[in-house]
Amino acid sequence: MSLSVRDAELVELMDDPACDPRRLHATLRRFDTVNRLFSGWGATYRRVLRPALLGLDRPARVLDLGSGGGDLVTRLARLSRRDGLDVTWVGADPDPRSLDVARARAAPGIEFRVTDAAALRRAGETFDVVISNHVLHHLSRDELAAFASDSLALSRGRVIHSDIRRSRAAYGLYAVAVTPFAPGTFLRTDGLRSIRRSYLPRELGDALGPRWRVEAASPFRVLAVGNGDA
Ligand SMILES: C[S@@+](CC[C@H](N)C(=O)[O-])C[C@H]1O[C@@H](n2cnc3c(N)ncnc32)[C@H](O)[C@@H]1O
Repeated sequence: MSLSVRDAELVELMDDPACDPRRLHATLRRFDTVNRLFSGWGATYRRVLRPALLGLDRPARVLDLGSGGGDLVTRLARLSRRDGLDVTWVGADPDPRSLDVARARAAPGIEFRVTDAAALRRAGETFDVVISNHVLHHLSRDELAAFASDSLALSRGRVIHSDIRRSRAAYGLYAVAVTPFAPGTFLRTDGLRSIRRSYLPRELGDALGPRWRVEAASPFRVLAVGNGDA
């Protein structure tokens, strides 16, 4: 198997609407651990998100697009509260199965909604910062263009999309490291498929176009940062 070319044809098990609901539920709950270990959001919060929130000098409203099981938005809410920042958070995901898991993580200042980027844009919603994690590699080329455009339209400030960076090292490391967390979930199969579907920084930059600064945030991560239109 070669990782030199992005495999956009691979379908992840959790993207099948008819997949086993118990496994999906377990996968969404365990994304918490996987995101803490692999997503690099601690560093992204300190380096990109926190400065954007501090720069506002007023209460902020942040949107997590494709919030899945809601673990990231819950973690970021905790980090921002610890830093004394006044932030309300919205986690939005069109998949109601995700929202069941997210709502079990409900906390003050966080709202979870069953909706998507296009619907929020049509409703004229705006936020101070828009983020996403592990959404870009799921999307087709047309979906990616629409999602990126919607995210810019929804933000008055920064837009920060974080995703996996495709590499042999990421594939090999994840295959070993996920083993203790994988039983009863889709984490192993879908994580490895995600790595094969994910972008190199140069590929993501080409797919998103000139409004975005795409960087290799670590050997395993890409970050696309834009400035919103709202
Ligand atoms: C792999 S999950 C990532 C979940 C979560 N962000 C995480 O890191 O664990 C990708 C999510 O993106 C959501 N999604 C796909 N297209 C979307 C759109 N246009 N607007 C909002 N969410 C979307 C899917 O429903 C899915 O829950």
